[in-house]
Amino acid sequence: MTGRRFTLRIEPLARTVEVAGDASLLEAASQAGIRLPSSCRNGTCRACLCRLSSGEVRYRIEWPGLAADEKADGWILPCVAVAASDVTIEQPAASEETAAARRVNSRGF
Ligand code: FES
Repeated sequence: MTGRRFTLRIEPLARTVEVAGDASLLEAASQAGIRLPSSCRNGTCRACLCRLSSGEVRYRIEWPGLAADEKADGWILPCVAVAASDVTIEQPAASEETAAARRVNSRGF
């Protein structure tokens, strides 16, 4: 078994998604059709940096690219962060892939 499932709340988008097993927060959002900023996806570039407003995370890698004071201030890297409880993040750049956007793309516009 893969253990507990937690929820990920994304603000200010006001969406809550389920985080399955050891999925990163970035992967969980993506699986639910929500795009978060990202680039390297391995915890080094900091493109995904956002604030954790509630809950706890653990990291897939030993040294994510965060300073100790950034961690203490609640900044996380969701590409390598795994939920250790129900969590809420603040990411104003988050966007939802809408059905309208998918239709437009499929028509080749
Ligand atoms: S995408 Fe590069 S640190 Fe998260």
